[in-house]
Amino acid sequence: MSLVGNIVLIGPMGAGKTTLGTKLAQHFAVGFIDLDEEIEKRAGVDIPFIFETEGEKGFREREKLVLHEILERPEKSVIATGGGCVLDPENRKALMCERLVVHVDVSLRVQQQRLKNDKRRPILQVNDLRQKLESLREERHEIYCQTADQRVVTDDGNIRRLIMEIEAMLE
Ligand code: S3P
Repeated sequence: MSLVGNIVLIGPMGAGKTTLGTKLAQHFAVGFIDLDEEIEKRAGVDIPFIFETEGEKGFREREKLVLHEILERPEKSVIATGGGCVLDPENRKALMCERLVVHVDVSLRVQQQRLKNDKRRPILQVNDLRQKLESLREERHEIYCQTADQRVVTDDGNIRRLIMEIEAMLE
C-alpha cells in the first residue's frame, strides 16, 4: 500500500512512538521524521540543553516551529512527535489535517518500567516518577484522544501487530 498522506504518531513518553514510527516508515517505504531529533539537529544541541538554557517555554517554541516546517514538506512521511507537542492548540489543529493521527499509548505500569532509568527527558528528572507520569496522563490523555483518529496500545511490544492495525486504519 502506498501512502497518500502523512501518518503522525502522538502520545506519551515511553509509548514507543520512535520505535514504531521507524518500522512503520520501513513498511510503507517512506521517510521517518522524529520531531525531537529535528529540533536537536536544528538547534545543534540536545533537548536537555535546550530546557536548561531556554526552559520548557523555549523548547515549546522550537517544537512548534519545527513541527509546522515538517508538515509543509511535500513528501509523505511517518512523523513521531514528542509527548507534549499536542499541548499547543495550533499544533493540534495542524496535526488534525493530516491523513492519519495515531495515539500511541501505553499503560502506566509499562511506561514506568520503560522510563525508570531515563536521563534524557528533562520533565521526568523528578523524585517520584510514578506520580509525575500519573499527573501527565491526567493532564494529557484526553487531549491525545481528541486529537487522534485512532489509538493503539504498545504494552506487549508486538510491532508487527501494530503495523497491521495501522495499515487497516488506512483502508
Ligand atoms: C516531552 C516529550 C519528549 C520531548 C521532551 C518533552 C513531553 O518526547 O519532546 O522531553 O513533554 O512529553 P518523547 O515523547 O518522544 O519522549
